[in-house]
Amino acid sequence: MPGEPATDCQLCPRLAAMRHANRQAQPDWFNRPVPSFGDANARLLIVGLAPGLQGANRTGRPFTGDYAGDLLYATLAKFGFSTGSYGANIRDGLRLKDCRITNAVRCVPPQNKPETAEIVTCRKYLAAVIEEMPELKVILALGKIAHDSTAAVFGLRPSMAKFAHGALHPLPDGRVLINSYHCSRYNTNTRRLTAEMFEAVFDGITNRLSQTA
Ligand code: URA
Repeated sequence: MPGEPATDCQLCPRLAAMRHANRQAQPDWFNRPVPSFGDANARLLIVGLAPGLQGANRTGRPFTGDYAGDLLYATLAKFGFSTGSYGANIRDGLRLKDCRITNAVRCVPPQNKPETAEIVTCRKYLAAVIEEMPELKVILALGKIAHDSTAAVFGLRPSMAKFAHGALHPLPDGRVLINSYHCSRYNTNTRRLTAEMFEAVFDGITNRLSQTA
């Protein structure tokens, strides 16, 4: 698939070494670059940060099996962007509707913190995912790293498009980049991001999509 790294991608030595170590320690886990989830014809693309060690890195599907996925998938269901029920594993039968999820960095990084060089290296896969979505209208970036990397795909410097929760940044061809705080355990536990705030972002997205249908 053009938008997907090789299953044993070696472009980021630190991340490849971590994957290798994880494979030794947990041979039953996915432990590979995590592919995007959802149809390339979707109008909404959600960009996360990177796979969680025991979430997407274990299960093989973005946001699946970790805390952040609980709020994300509950919200997607509430707004009609999925069918079936989220069961925190890739055999749950959940399907996304008019929505696709990817990550700015495809491999699990140590301490959940990718280095700048890794974000830049992995950007070509984010660019390829965006490129292969002909109907794309709205990109939702979860957190500043996802935002900055997505903005860079469109040639926007951080000073031209600053991350702010709820902000909407126009992109070429009438598409928009929308920002939300990441739905991480830390952000939700500290109430930096509440379910209500997250739903307000999705209200804006669905309104926007209904205008551009
Ligand atoms: N899981 C993902 O796939 N991405 C994130 O950003 C967080 C958890």
